[in-house]
Amino acid sequence: MTHQDILNQIEKNKDRWLNELIDLLKIPSISADPQYKQDVRRTAEKVKELLLKAGVDMAEICETKGHPVVYAEKMVSSDAPTVIVYGHYDVQPADPLDLWDSPPFEPVIKKTAIHPQGAIFARGACDDKGQTMMHIKALELMNHLNHLKCNIKFMIEGEEEVGSAHLGEWVKENKHRLKGDVILISDTSIIANDTPSIAVGLRGLCYMEVEVTGPNRDLHSGVYGGAVANPINILCKLIASCHDESNRITIPGFYDDVAELSEEERKELNKAPLDESEYKKDLDVQALWGEKGYTTIERTGIRPTLDVNGIWGGYTGEGAKTVLPSKAYAKISMRLVPNQKPEKIAQLFQQYFENTAPSCVKIKVKPHHGGEAYVVSTNSDAYRAASMAMEKTFGKKPIPKREGGSIPIVALFKKELGLDSILMGFGLDSDALHSPNEHYGVFNYFKGIETIPLFYEYFYQMKTKKRS
Ligand code: BES
Ligand code: MN
Ligand code: MN
Repeated sequence: MTHQDILNQIEKNKDRWLNELIDLLKIPSISADPQYKQDVRRTAEKVKELLLKAGVDMAEICETKGHPVVYAEKMVSSDAPTVIVYGHYDVQPADPLDLWDSPPFEPVIKKTAIHPQGAIFARGACDDKGQTMMHIKALELMNHLNHLKCNIKFMIEGEEEVGSAHLGEWVKENKHRLKGDVILISDTSIIANDTPSIAVGLRGLCYMEVEVTGPNRDLHSGVYGGAVANPINILCKLIASCHDESNRITIPGFYDDVAELSEEERKELNKAPLDESEYKKDLDVQALWGEKGYTTIERTGIRPTLDVNGIWGGYTGEGAKTVLPSKAYAKISMRLVPNQKPEKIAQLFQQYFENTAPSCVKIKVKPHHGGEAYVVSTNSDAYRAASMAMEKTFGKKPIPKREGGSIPIVALFKKELGLDSILMGFGLDSDALHSPNEHYGVFNYFKGIETIPLFYEYFYQMKTKKRS
């Protein structure tokens, strides 16, 4: 199988492979909303069907206490290297719907400045149906060319976007099936279409919800205002106190376990290209904001953060209503870095809010999902195989990059299965993941399908050379 063989196959199947992705994107597999439970299952069935069509030996819908996991195997030989492909078929909710230029589950292909060959606009196009589909189509391609030298196991879940609540349990129960050499994941981004990169780190996550209660009922803000604590005012003050003048997080003990990088490592990290004026222009902001003493690459890659994701309470309808509300709420996420434990951070956060809140309000703090950060070495056969494959297809050696996002289950794979994950994603940060008008470049989709077979080829070569 030469690189040209791969390109020929892609040329031949292009339209069909694009249409099959479009069909998959039409099912609203929103894992967070119970209303879509049947659609999530229908998507799992569709993924199973696609895997069987691509030539796996077996594919199965595995029940969990939540949404099912799709598991499949293509075994070529008991002594061939085994790669486990992980991905997710669930998507984020699509709202706010009115900000979409076309309906989120009616995919359309449109050209953009960054995607002159067109991009597919739909919820899940990039995260992660499009990127998971590349692996299925790469298998179909290798099967067709009769050139698959590695065993492949697929583990495609339906709960990534809600914190992979039940996948950990499933992994523990299925350890015997999940023997392999490495995990391969496409659920991250490259720096740009002419600047390939491979993720060598993910941040962890600790997600909390705070409820502040003032008086036992909503009050007239004139009659009582000035004499009774307003829970929204108090909540805002508490949140504002979480950062100091240097934009460092003030929660006592928050930085205790943070892994610091050496000057050498920081220098290396900052070699990745980042045009700050382009970055600002893209977001339409005058200035950037973050922890003093760190670059933008460091602020998103190796430093922890605390951000309000949502805040509500009181009157938010049309016009003005004078009210002193009884309750205020906020959802707050903290991105974590290596060595920080989400359980410990959750506890520190809870203590801080409980101890800092004045006695005129009651406070309730509740943890949501979390997960540890992950870093992986570039010094492995699998990383080298991924790097060589991308170098071949992009014509440039990929840059190792620490991602700011999280895939919490990756740390568990390491802990439970002892396996590293190679994060060979093909999306762009500008593809509007989790936002209105999410899209995935047609170029990126086919670049993935082109690169993945080469990964298997190089990985096989490296593994077998070592043995002989
Ligand atoms: N694929 C993303 C994570 C990601 C995106 C990593 C871009 C690197 C670059 C994943 O689906 C995701 O959205 N993860 C969530 C965490 C989850 C627990 C909801 C996140 O990072 O917010
Ligand atoms: Mn994802
Ligand atoms: Mn996501």
